[in-house]
This record gives sequence, C-alpha cells and structure tokens, in this order.
Amino acid sequence: MTAPKKLFIKTYGCQMNVYDSERMAEALGGQGYVETQDAGDADMILLNTCHIREKAAEKVYSELGRLKPLKALNPDLKIAVAGCVAQAEGEEIMRRQPAVDLVVGPQSYHRLPEMEAKIRRGETALDTDFPQEDKFEHLKARPKARRAPAAFLTVQEGCDKFCAFCVVPYTRGAEVSRPAARVLEEARDLVERGVREVTLLGQNVNAYHGAGPKGDMTLAGLIRELAKVDGLERIRYTTSHPNDMDDALIAAHAEVPELMPYLHLPVQSGSDHILKRMNRNHTAESYLRVIERIRAARPDIVLSGDFIVGFPEESDADFDATMDLVREVKYGYAYSFKYSTRPGTPAAERALVDPAVADDRLQRLQALITTHQREIQGSMVGRDVSVLVERKGREPGQMLGKSEYLHAVHIDQAQAEVGDIVQVRIVEALTNSLTARHR
Ligand code: 5AD
Ligand code: SF4
Repeated sequence: MTAPKKLFIKTYGCQMNVYDSERMAEALGGQGYVETQDAGDADMILLNTCHIREKAAEKVYSELGRLKPLKALNPDLKIAVAGCVAQAEGEEIMRRQPAVDLVVGPQSYHRLPEMEAKIRRGETALDTDFPQEDKFEHLKARPKARRAPAAFLTVQEGCDKFCAFCVVPYTRGAEVSRPAARVLEEARDLVERGVREVTLLGQNVNAYHGAGPKGDMTLAGLIRELAKVDGLERIRYTTSHPNDMDDALIAAHAEVPELMPYLHLPVQSGSDHILKRMNRNHTAESYLRVIERIRAARPDIVLSGDFIVGFPEESDADFDATMDLVREVKYGYAYSFKYSTRPGTPAAERALVDPAVADDRLQRLQALITTHQREIQGSMVGRDVSVLVERKGREPGQMLGKSEYLHAVHIDQAQAEVGDIVQVRIVEALTNSLTARHR
C-alpha cells in the first residue's frame, strides 16, 4: 500500500467556504488524500478563497508567492485555488502565478477528483463553469467519518438579489436550492456520524425553495421536516434577507423547539436613501417591522446583523439613521464593514466617501454594537441555558460549547461529554464568553 498523500487546506471567508472545504477534503479523500495541518508537509495545498471585500485577490497572490518555494522542497507538491477568487480571476491566476496547478470555481468542486488526476499527469486544470449537474450529488462523503456535534449543511447557494455592492451573484451564480430529500438524507447521515446541531447555509437561505414531495418547499417546511429527524436536536440557518422572512418561517420560530432562538438578519444600513442606492428593496421601517414580528413570535431571540458604512453618498444623517436603527434593535452580535469597491458591481462606478470619515463611522458603530453585545452577555448571568458541548476546555474538567443563543459557554467541573446537551446556569460573563455551572 502506498502512503497516503497529504492535503493542506486554508479556508478564507464565510461558513459556506468551511462547508465546501470539508466536502473537497472528502472528495480528495477518495483520491487517497488525508488532511494535514502543516503546509510544509503537504502534497497538495488548496486555498479556498473569498472575494467579498477588497484586496482579496491580492492577498491570495501574496499567499501563493509565499507558498511557491515549497515546490522546490517537494517536487510532487501541487497548488490549487478554489472559491470565489478562483471564480472571479479564472485563468489569470495561473498567468500571474505559474506555480498554481489547479483553479476551480465553487460550482465545479465535484469535478475535483478528475482535475486532481490531470494535474498528477503534469498538466494544469481549470474549471470555472456553472454546470447543470448537481455538484452535491457527486460530493457525498465516503468513508463515513465521525463528525463534531455541530455541522454546517448547505441547502441553497447563489443569489438573485443583486445588492449594488455585492459580488456574490457573480461568483456564486444564480440562486439554486437543493431538493428537500437530499438535505434530509444528508442530515440523517450527519446524525449517524455524531452531529446534533445543523446550521443550514445559503447566501439567501430563507429564499430556499427546494423540490419537495408536493411541489417546492419553503425554508419553514424544510425546518419542520428536519425537526422530525431523530437525534437532530438543534437547527439554525444563515444568512437571511429581510424580504424573505415569511409568516411561516416566523411561526416556526414560535412553534419548532429545535429551531434555536438566534437569527442573523443583515440590514446593511438604517437610511432609506442608502438602502435604495444599495438596491436592497426594503426600508429601515419595513426591516424593523420584521424584527417586531420575529420578537413577538420568540421574545428571547438574539439577533445579529451586518452593516456597511461609507457606502457611496452616505451622509452624516444617513449614518446617524444606521446608529438609530442599531439602538432600536440592540443586536447580540453584529458585523460591520467599511464599504469596499468590488469591480463589476453597480456601486463600483460611484464616488467614495472620504476614507477617514468612513473609518470614524466604523469605529463609532462598532463601539455601539460592542456596548449592546456586552449588555446582552451580562444579562445572561443567573439565567439557565442549554449548552451543546463541543470540546474540552483548557482547564481540567472544563468543557466548551454553545448556548441556544450561540454564546460560547465554558462549563466548569463539567459532568458532560462532547455531544451532550446539558442544562446549566450562567454564573459569569467574560468579554467573549460566558461561564456556567451545573445547577
Ligand atoms: N463592501 C463591504 N462589505 C461588504 N459586504 C458584502 N459586500 C461588501 C462590500 N463590497 C458585507 C455585507 C454582507 C457581508 C457578508 O459582507 O455586510 O452582508
Ligand atoms: Fe450579496 Fe446578500 Fe445582497 Fe445577495 S442578498 S447580493 S448575497 S448582500
């Protein structure tokens, strides 16, 4: 038997890339690869890249420049680039960095095994198609390795919304939902392998409309079916668009105990003028009404969001409207970014806000968000939560996991194993985590 080849994967960007990297590792597992954490030891280095904000491509090129000398040490080493930079740059990557052997876009990962065979023959391989076949059908796990208790599961990919700042509709393509039966089959398989919580992934996950037994199924329908899977205790989903939060999905938050009380619902800005220029197709007010309905259904829900500051034409008054919206919603978590120009998107043509002004706004917004985050973390002290135990902590006897609200929780003197869901009381709020004891 020949020694297995070693695969080093570096993943950038969103959770969907984390999921994709796992699928690629499994696909290459079929070609005799095992994963290594050491790039210097690898026979294949795969960068799974992100293109959402500026300088992404440049970062990839400098990383490739750093990796190139490893080829002199190991002549069998192959270098591969996957993800959204691969999709956007295509052949250009090999032109600029000839050390790259393989470039594969997100819709072609199921073709990796044949591409790998091709590069082992000394050729290069490039695939940035949007093929018709279902890549997930060809990316099934084998062998059935044990999994960590919380897993991602992609149910929908791509986006048809075309927000004026965003590259996703170009790099991930049009919205495609996986059939419900395939998702359920993958969920059952995950449960057999030790998973108890799934986070359903999609760039526009709440627009899910996969084929079901009686026509298309919505995300609410899919969640109700998943809740029936024996052994699957917790369900989450991300990322959602405010316009697709339908009544059925909001009702699911009230009625499905497996659906966790946490929701990531980006708004991007609190100014109607900017929302219009962003092509978001909603107003600040309509967003706040959605939040109101969700809170009526699930009063303890923790909300998170995404914000862009310094979008072209953003005035002080526009930014103040964002601050007001944040004060009104009070997010448990929120991610804020300075606008960055993405070539090929409609907003790329517009004049930028002074970068110093944008920096200042970003700092003010982040400070406000942090205050709320701390307040909400602090308000958890004394409360009883359920924690899915994910791993051992640093201290003896300590275990780490996530509460239903997605807070990271340390349990001291834990009487629990990885994969257990335990009821504990929060005794202390630290900056980024909570400490709990058994009751
Ligand atoms: N500039 C800054 N932030 C962006 N995002 C998407 N595109 C851009 C851009 N061009 C942010 C949005 C989105 C998150 C994933 O990244 O807030 O919700
Ligand atoms: Fe990008 Fe999300 Fe807007 Fe789609 S909905 S274009 S993924 S920001």
